[in-house]
Amino acid sequence: MLEHLSTLRRVSDARPPKRILTNVSHAALSPLTARAGRPLTGRARVPGDKSISHRALILGALAVGETRISGLLEGEDVINTANALRALGASVERTGEGRWSVRGIGVGGFAEPAQPLDFGNSGTGCRLMIGAAGGCPITATFDGDASLRTRPMQRVLDPLARIGAKPVAMAPGGRLPLTLRGAPDPIPIVYEPPVASAQLKSAVLLAALAAPGETTVIEAEATRDHTERMLAHFGAEVRVEPHATHGRRITLRGQPELVPAAVAVPADPSSAAFPLVAALIAPGSDVVLQGVMTNPLRTGLMTTLAAMGAAIETLETHNEGGEEVADLRVRASGLAGVDVPAERAPTMIDEYPVLAVAAAYADGVTRMRGLKELRVKESDRLAATADMLRLNGVEVEIAGDDLIVHGRRRVPGGGVVATHMDHRIAMAALVMGLASEKPIGVDDAAFIATSFPGFPALMGSLGADLS
Ligand code: S3P
Repeated sequence: MLEHLSTLRRVSDARPPKRILTNVSHAALSPLTARAGRPLTGRARVPGDKSISHRALILGALAVGETRISGLLEGEDVINTANALRALGASVERTGEGRWSVRGIGVGGFAEPAQPLDFGNSGTGCRLMIGAAGGCPITATFDGDASLRTRPMQRVLDPLARIGAKPVAMAPGGRLPLTLRGAPDPIPIVYEPPVASAQLKSAVLLAALAAPGETTVIEAEATRDHTERMLAHFGAEVRVEPHATHGRRITLRGQPELVPAAVAVPADPSSAAFPLVAALIAPGSDVVLQGVMTNPLRTGLMTTLAAMGAAIETLETHNEGGEEVADLRVRASGLAGVDVPAERAPTMIDEYPVLAVAAAYADGVTRMRGLKELRVKESDRLAATADMLRLNGVEVEIAGDDLIVHGRRRVPGGGVVATHMDHRIAMAALVMGLASEKPIGVDDAAFIATSFPGFPALMGSLGADLS
């Protein structure tokens, strides 16, 4: 862990880009343990939003000229996207802490990479880049770590085939490594994704940038809309209309000249979720989380916690880089179990492991419905979340695609949780250990650096006992 933390410090200490962009090796396990102790107090700002960080780099690379980004998440997932964009011909430079400059090469302008593109642990980086490269007349190989190699890519390849991109080689079951021949003459399409996935929607929109005419994606359930918002920010013509009860119809006019635009990345609500739940469950806590993005397609956890009785106060709101952000004051709260409807899942898809922790400390049953997509995240997150709870003495069931947690206001703890290369399982388990009767450990905290570099230090600054 120490070695790993020192790597993280190097990132934020503005070392020369060559060092920063070296992938951290996860060969050795980095165990970490959380213990209950003092209340959490103080103020903290979690790192930049991961979804927006990937998109800012990608759209910067597809614009002509220089895009300046501030507050970029310097986690491994995003660094891998930066590396891939360099291999495709864009210039991507770090100019200071969280400050990056991208010199783009225009829509359809990617050069053929000499080496396979390695996306490490990141489904978002990989799927978005399959889309962006799939609209260009180049052949590229996409690969990742053992976790990413288990994740489904066929869902992206299906619409891309209609646009004109064809896989040349791939592992069985539409898995990585995958070699894709991009569309020589991209075709605009009308597409209805079979699953609610912002990655899938974004891959289609990014590929369709290079197609003439209008491409439409019709979502039955609205998913995070950062790609649409940022495309408009970079000068593309995008129309977003309501569709059915919870859906949207997104229409993009292809072949725009994307104009470089400054991007200020707000703090990631999916990262803020961890100190937020920690403050709710650690008795006597009172914490302020600064500048957290409150895009309504990302706030399902806040809605759910409010219904459970959480004391979360919005102190100040403002607009940062086209997104609403807020300072959130969170105080330790008695929570009650709730029923979480399936249609809320897209707005909190990454937050279920930590919501399950809140549910374990609540009074009564929490039923989280419709979690099928959790099975294809960095791990089988439905199983990993249930195992994490069960191992620490919490009664939990999986019924179909639902997770049912029996909250008893206390967690015995004492387990060492297998994180399965999944950063959010690692952070959720450690948060659970901040109020449990016995300490809770994780076998490997290294993957936390994919999305939340500095997590142990930030939690420590609020008073958490992690070592
Ligand atoms: C993301 C979309 C979600 C989410 C992921 C980030 C994005 O994945 O889980 O962490 O930035 O588009 P899906 O599209 O698979 O739901």
